[in-house]
Order: sequence, then C-alpha cells, then structure tokens
Amino acid sequence: MVLSHAASGGSSDDSVHSTFASRYVRASLPRYRMPENSIPKEAAYQIINDELMLDGNPRLNLASFVTTWMEPECNKLMMDSINKNYVDMDEYPVTTELQNRCVNMIAHLFNAPLGETETAVGVGTVGSSEAIMLAGLAFKRRWQNKMRAAGKPCDKPNIVTGANVQVCWEKFARYFEVELKEVKLSEGYYVMDPEKAVEMVDENTICVAAILGSTLNGEFEDVKMLNDLLVKKNEETGWDTPIHVDAASGGFIAPFLYPELEWDFRLPLVKSINVSGHKYGLVYAGIGWCIWRSKEDLPDELIFHINYLGADQPTFTLNFSKGSSQVIAQYYQLIRLGFEGYRNIMDNCQENAMVLKEGLERTGRFNIVSKDQGVPLVAFSLKDSSRHDEFEISEFLRRFGWIVPAYTMPPDAQHVTVLRVVVREDFSRTFAERLVIDIEKVLHELDALPSRSSGPSLQHPNGDTVSEKDLARQREVVSVWKRAVAARKKTQGVC
Ligand SMILES: Cc1ncc(COP(=O)(O)O)c(C=O)c1O
Repeated sequence: MVLSHAASGGSSDDSVHSTFASRYVRASLPRYRMPENSIPKEAAYQIINDELMLDGNPRLNLASFVTTWMEPECNKLMMDSINKNYVDMDEYPVTTELQNRCVNMIAHLFNAPLGETETAVGVGTVGSSEAIMLAGLAFKRRWQNKMRAAGKPCDKPNIVTGANVQVCWEKFARYFEVELKEVKLSEGYYVMDPEKAVEMVDENTICVAAILGSTLNGEFEDVKMLNDLLVKKNEETGWDTPIHVDAASGGFIAPFLYPELEWDFRLPLVKSINVSGHKYGLVYAGIGWCIWRSKEDLPDELIFHINYLGADQPTFTLNFSKGSSQVIAQYYQLIRLGFEGYRNIMDNCQENAMVLKEGLERTGRFNIVSKDQGVPLVAFSLKDSSRHDEFEISEFLRRFGWIVPAYTMPPDAQHVTVLRVVVREDFSRTFAERLVIDIEKVLHELDALPSRSSGPSLQHPNGDTVSEKDLARQREVVSVWKRAVAARKKTQGVC
C-alpha cells in the first residue's frame, strides 16, 4: 500500500508512504463507533486483510462440512453475479430459472414421484437451517388444519427427533413453539432408535425427523425402519404422522455412494427433505434446499405467489433478499459434474476417510465411533483417557494448523467425548496421511507430559525442557476450554 501525501489528507506525516508505518496502521482501529473520517481504500484493504490473517485456514478446518474449495471457473461465475439480488426475479429471470432447475434435479435425485418434465415442489434457502424451519412450518400448519377440521385442540404440537439433532431443530422448536421430544442416545448407539421414536409419537406429533448423516458421527439413521414402524402405528391409531429427512450432509452422498439405500421419497411417509448445497452439494456457504414430495405437503397458505415472470413463481422463504451467486454455483456443479462427477468425488472422500480411519486404528489408541456407511468423516475417541483426553489432542493439533473439534455426546451418552474429522472434496490423500502422522506426534508429546491429575514432568520427548510455567499455562488453556465446551449447549454446537 503506497499512500500519496494528498491521499492521506495532506498529512505532514512523512511515514505515510510506508505501508506499515502509515498512521492508518499505527493507530488502534475503531471498535464501537464509526470513525469520523474516511481512510484510503488501500489502507482499509490492508488493515482488514491483515487482521483476517489471524483467522484459521478454512482448508485445514476439519470441523466443518461446508465447502472450502471450488473450481476457478465457478468462482468467476459467482463473482460475476455477486451484485444480483436473488429476489429481483423480474430483473433476473434466468437466475430464477436456474434455481427451479436445481430444485427439479435434486427432487429427481431424491426419487420424488415426478414425471420426466414435471416441475418439482421445492425452494432454495440460505442453508439447511432455513430449509428445516420451512419444512417444520409446513408440517405444523398441515397438522393444525387437520386438528381444526376434526374439532380438536391444536395448541400443543410436538416433533420427535433423536437427541443427536443439530441445533437448528432446537431453534425451530423454540422459535415456532413446538415441543421437541428427543430420543435419548446411549453409549455405542449415537443415532435415533426408530422404535423408541415411534413409541414417543402421539396425536400431537407434527412429524418425526430422521437424520441422514448425523452431525456427531456421520451415521445414517434407519429411515426405512422408521417408515415401516410408523406406517404400522398410523394404521393402528388412524393418525398420519409423516417423516422429514434432514439430509443436510447425506443428501448429496447417499444417492451416489448407496443408491440402493431407501431413505428418500421412495418411502411413502417421507414428505419433505432438506439438504445443504454448501456441504456435499459442493458450493460455498449460503445455499440449502427444501424439497416436498408433492403440492399437498406444502399448505398453500404458506406460499406467496409472485407472477413477475409471466408465470406463477411461488415463494416460501424466511428472508426476502439473498445473493444469487450460490444458486448459480449450485447449477454449475450439477451440470459440470453430473452424476458421474459427484460419484467420483464422494467416492474419493470415502476412500480418504478410510485411509484416515485405518491410520488411527493402527495407533491402537482410538475407538472409531463413525460408521463406514455414512458421511465421509471419522469420529473417534481415546480408548484410555485417564491421563489425557480428546480436548488436549484437539488443542495440541492446532499447533500443526489442524482444526479438529472435540465435543461430548448428547444425553444419555454425555460421558463420551469424540474428535471428528470431516473429509471434504479438498481433503486429499496427502492430508489424510499427514494428519495421522501429526496425531501420532501429539500422542507422543502427551505421553511425555504429566497427566492432568499428576504433577508436571519437565522433559519433552525431543529432550527440550518445558518450563513449569509453560505447562501450567497449557493446562490452564485446556481446562478453560474444556469448561467452555462443557457449558456450551447445542446452541453453539458443532455444525
Ligand atoms: C444434520 C444437520 N442438519 C442441519 C444442519 C444445519 O445446516 P446449515 O449449516 O446448512 O444451516 C447441519 C449442519 O451441520 C447438520 O449437520
């Protein structure tokens, strides 16, 4: 950044020509009030860019399912449409058309009962959370209409899920006043038990939500068994409790890797499905999809009809304005990769997850709590955490640049702590191998350190002396962090 004398507002400060000695960089930045005066654009860029360098590296953020790499051609398409507000459908009819095409393609991928050229019922959202709010609202309204028509009270709706649901379900329940009835987990069983779920269903249940790819360990819930049990219960009771599938991650995995697995609209009680375009849909953050089985499953009074395009454009979203880039990028990925491309990528992710899993097993130190069939991730916990625990491993791995979260499982498995590595498209074989090596190094370091409960040993495996102060500081960081994680409710949970 080179600032001219004039650009600096006529300052007599000679140092203004030197990037890092200019007065813009030397002064503390305003944090609470907007500054009175403008600064040059180069200075603004440099200051913000530099501060952002302290963020983690997204590519090494193994905590996230969300896409961190796309092809340059798609990046260009996204930048070219960054100034298009999606909601201006009369101005940008092609963008709207691309969204509709994405809805159709995804609905077909999920085996919606549609003719070849029939339009699907669905909507693009900011992510799975918004999609889940919309799906939940549709179930609530449909249930209320049914109860009113039967002359029954409709003020106590509930929804049945596993305790492993992502925070967005808790948000839905709280924001839209629906009781969340959670099936508890148990050690070794970290997904919703369909039998227990169906037992919890009553006349006020608006739907049972199953997860295709649990956030905690990537496992697919047994939607088929849930469907069969619920069909039976519906027949016995005369109710018609439906199913929603939260396929935030698994929706772009199962169709490619496990095409025989029945989890989608092939099952009659599955009325809606959400998927995150920005997870294994392979688009940067800001896109999700909600697809309904048919028009009957989306009460008409929730839909706003706009006819800017000369044709009816139904809209059902929580927000009005949003960017167009993600919609365009999703369309790019669908047509650029096609079924073949997605299958290749998911296959590769799965293989890399296996390399990582096998590497971790070879250490002999971990139990693997993820399944081979599921989202390509590896969730693992220490076989023996009496001396050191998963939080310390997570903390130590940060020194190598890796961000690997550690968290405790929900009730009744809260005594189990796991580490989780999400394998995304850009997590290569080299990364998988390298991560295993770094985890081994961390284990050696931890082995040489005193256990959390004993006094400090002052020798590192490499022979370096570790000062008591450093050790105390390290322990303090870990214990503060552990307390913070323990205190954290799902409202800030892993995502
Ligand atoms: C199973 C599940 N559902 C919903 C969500 C929320 O998704 P989004 O971030 O797209 O809102 C997540 C996020 O990780 C998830 O794993």
